Amino acid sequence: MGFEMSVIIRSYDGGQSDRAQVEDLERRCEVGPAERVFLFTDTMGDPICRIRNSPMYKMLVAELDKELVGVIQGSVKVVTVHRHDDHMDLARVGYILGLRVAPVHRRRGIGSSLVRRLEEWFIANDVDYAYMATEKGNEASVKLFVNKFGYSKFRTPAILVNPVHNHPFHISSNVEIQKIKIEEAESLYRKFMAAMEFFPHDIDNVLRNRLSLGTWVAYPRGESFGSNGQVPSSWAMLSVWNSGEIFKLRLGKAPLSCLIYTKSSRLMDKFFPCLKLPFLPNFFHPFGFYFMYGVHREGPMSGKLVRSLCQFVHNMATKSKDCKVIVTEVAGDDTLRHHIPRWRLLSCLEDLWCMKALKNEERNTLHELTKTPPTRALFVDPREV
Ligand SMILES: CC(C)(COP(=O)(O)OP(=O)(O)OC[C@H]1O[C@@H](n2cnc3c(N)ncnc32)[C@H](O)[C@@H]1OP(=O)(O)O)[C@@H](O)C(=O)NCCC(=O)NCCS
Repeated sequence: MGFEMSVIIRSYDGGQSDRAQVEDLERRCEVGPAERVFLFTDTMGDPICRIRNSPMYKMLVAELDKELVGVIQGSVKVVTVHRHDDHMDLARVGYILGLRVAPVHRRRGIGSSLVRRLEEWFIANDVDYAYMATEKGNEASVKLFVNKFGYSKFRTPAILVNPVHNHPFHISSNVEIQKIKIEEAESLYRKFMAAMEFFPHDIDNVLRNRLSLGTWVAYPRGESFGSNGQVPSSWAMLSVWNSGEIFKLRLGKAPLSCLIYTKSSRLMDKFFPCLKLPFLPNFFHPFGFYFMYGVHREGPMSGKLVRSLCQFVHNMATKSKDCKVIVTEVAGDDTLRHHIPRWRLLSCLEDLWCMKALKNEERNTLHELTKTPPTRALFVDPREV
């Protein structure tokens, strides 16, 4: 108890000392189960960069004798939620991310104090629901949020990660891929995806953000998008976010199989380039990544179109200086994921999203939200990656 009393929870001040200490804390914390590949995040001197692009955000730190021993981040926005299958609504949601407590100070209530204070900030800002994402196997985090703070398990989307290798893909000549203007992208998203779970009400801000590299549509060659809003018989679309511009990833640890595969594929590529084997990048140096968001498809051929779009994004990434993986996140039971190339070792097929109602009147609704079967699609906001 005495220990807890001397811990101060305060806002991150953005000064040199806070910046360096938060980054150091991130380096000292491994997130997730020991047997999995672990990726470190390098925020390149700006630890708040992961939430900076959200409409409202807050970073809190826990200080003990002038040393930062804990950190948490949160952002607020308005999204679509589904109360019943046929009834959708807008809700103000607060996303919790980046909770870290220095290993030697764990199990003393610091993580709980940070969560409590962030929830208070959400409540002061009229947030209906708080939510967070964690790996299913992260026992500390699941117990803290579900058992202690009463969060309900909500969805289990899949994070799909695919390496960028040095050989561009050949894209089928039957597929037309076209970059569309931001206004067109916004209108397509609002028309076809506004009902998607967690669709951000301010999609225009996402699309206009400097990190958003653009939106592309794919459709069978010979067909077109009509000026009156008519769409081809089959089509797919996605947008790309350059996450690597604000933070880098680095492999912290990896199973032996991964190391051997990485090494041998590089040697093979060096000595037998004509085989066009995928050359896997060196993940032990910091690298950037593209996040594909708003992936949508319609029509019988749309699976193939999604695959072509992914190949197109891969080819685009081969021209970037440090983009070594392409990441996307889709609802766990969305058939879309079968058309998105991924490397199993780096992917997480069951990311766990947990949610909690912060207002009394929303408690019953949360019950409905968690009990309704997951809608086919889930919008994962690139600002929260
Ligand atoms: C998760 C983490 C932030 C918890 O911080 P903490 O300060 O140790 O948390 P608290 O002391 O407030 O613990 C609160 C409750 O969480 C649960 N908990 C915390 N650590 C646990 C562990 N290692 N195993 C099982 N339960 C755990 C317990 O229910 C605990 O209550 P109790 O101590 O009364 O049993 C910390 O372990 C950490 O930084 N982990 C690495 C980063 C990470 O995984 N972050 C979460 C990403 S979403």
